[in-house]
Amino acid sequence: MEIGNPIPVACEAPMTEAVAFPQDRTCPYHPPTAYRPLRESRPLSRVTLYDGRSVWVVTGHATARRLLSDQRLSTDSTNAAFPLPTERFAAVRSRRRAALLGVDDPEHNAQRRMLIPSFTLKRTADLRPRIRRTVDELIDAMVEQGPPAELVSAFALPVPSIVICDLLGVPYADHHFFEEQSRRLLRGPAAEDIEDAREQLEGYLGDLVERKRDKPGEGVIDDLVAQQLAHGRLDKQELIAMATILLVAGHETTANMISLGTFTLLQHPEQWAELKADPELMPAAVEELLRFLSIADGMLRVATEDIETDGVTIRADEGVIFSTSVINRDTSAYPEPDRLDWHRSARHHVAFGFGIHQCLGQNLARAEMEIALGTLFERLPGLRLAAPPEEIPFKPGDTIQGMLELPVAW
Ligand code: HEM
Repeated sequence: MEIGNPIPVACEAPMTEAVAFPQDRTCPYHPPTAYRPLRESRPLSRVTLYDGRSVWVVTGHATARRLLSDQRLSTDSTNAAFPLPTERFAAVRSRRRAALLGVDDPEHNAQRRMLIPSFTLKRTADLRPRIRRTVDELIDAMVEQGPPAELVSAFALPVPSIVICDLLGVPYADHHFFEEQSRRLLRGPAAEDIEDAREQLEGYLGDLVERKRDKPGEGVIDDLVAQQLAHGRLDKQELIAMATILLVAGHETTANMISLGTFTLLQHPEQWAELKADPELMPAAVEELLRFLSIADGMLRVATEDIETDGVTIRADEGVIFSTSVINRDTSAYPEPDRLDWHRSARHHVAFGFGIHQCLGQNLARAEMEIALGTLFERLPGLRLAAPPEEIPFKPGDTIQGMLELPVAW
């Protein structure tokens, strides 16, 4: 069945010619209209960063998957040639490398291997009843309070926050603190915010590690303390860096998928009706939403050697950015890519990246999205936006995409 996508007025912004990267979306669920020239010059083009530097941008699906598996592309942000998308990021990038995402193999592999057992499909499946309970409790609270509600703070953020706290062994009572620091880390207005937020988070997690050394509990951080730190396989600073990325990535990303996914479904009534009629479509819908929304738009790499690809040479020390939103709308991989369609095969999208850094939390994120969106729409069948769509604020282009607020009623 052909399914049409009504495009709200706010999504019809004029196209601009200059391809600077990153740019704000004009519609929260479509790639920036200003990226249109990039869609027309696949699989690779050049874009200009905030400081005027020109770098490669990968936009073709097959090329992206090949290059994301290429060990000659590094994620080491301390490399002077690393592409820096914003001034804020540039100001802090060389201080210290992030765990996992900021390190190359073999160091990366050693870190990742310590975490894989905690994020398997089986471990995630075991978490499903806990996720369902959390989702139900949050919806109960919304219903009790009565409409309207602000869905980001009442639902989209607490669901993954509570779950990641449980999984890591972080007290949820501290959520205001770490959610605020994560917000500053990802979107703080100035470089000082990023620096300070990281210090605050690292200080907090460092104290937590000490407490767990004295009194072990249950959670991924407890396991790392007991099995790795205690045996000298991991030093404390590395453990804190790992805990930081898990805590931040573990709640911010999925929260954005839940808020933006809800907004997108409410703007696509036919697709929503289909899901209501056949809830079995939910796993396919989650996959298609991941492709369609591509919230982590801009994976960053630097070439360590010359790489020949698609008739061009990426030179050593050139920056390479993967524009997820453009890659996931490549017509050679997805016919009519701007259409939201539960019946296509959305598999092989790069919304979780690809290659050695492919998202560690993807099984967890899928389970959270399925349960959160499925239950929300099942329990509140009359869910609707409580403000005109074009007035609802969403996040700027230089961070993970999602809704800043989402006023709803039912
Ligand atoms: C829908 C939600 C999510 C999206 C869209 C997402 C997206 C991504 C992407 C695109 C990457 C690769 C970045 C790159 O290669 O440059 C990544 C890596 C990562 N993600 Fe996620 N993520 C999500 C949820 C989560 C969750 C829930 C967790 C934690 C529990 C998590 C933890 C990580 C970690 C640790 C990495 C780095 C892996 C490595 O370098 O080996 N993510 N994620």
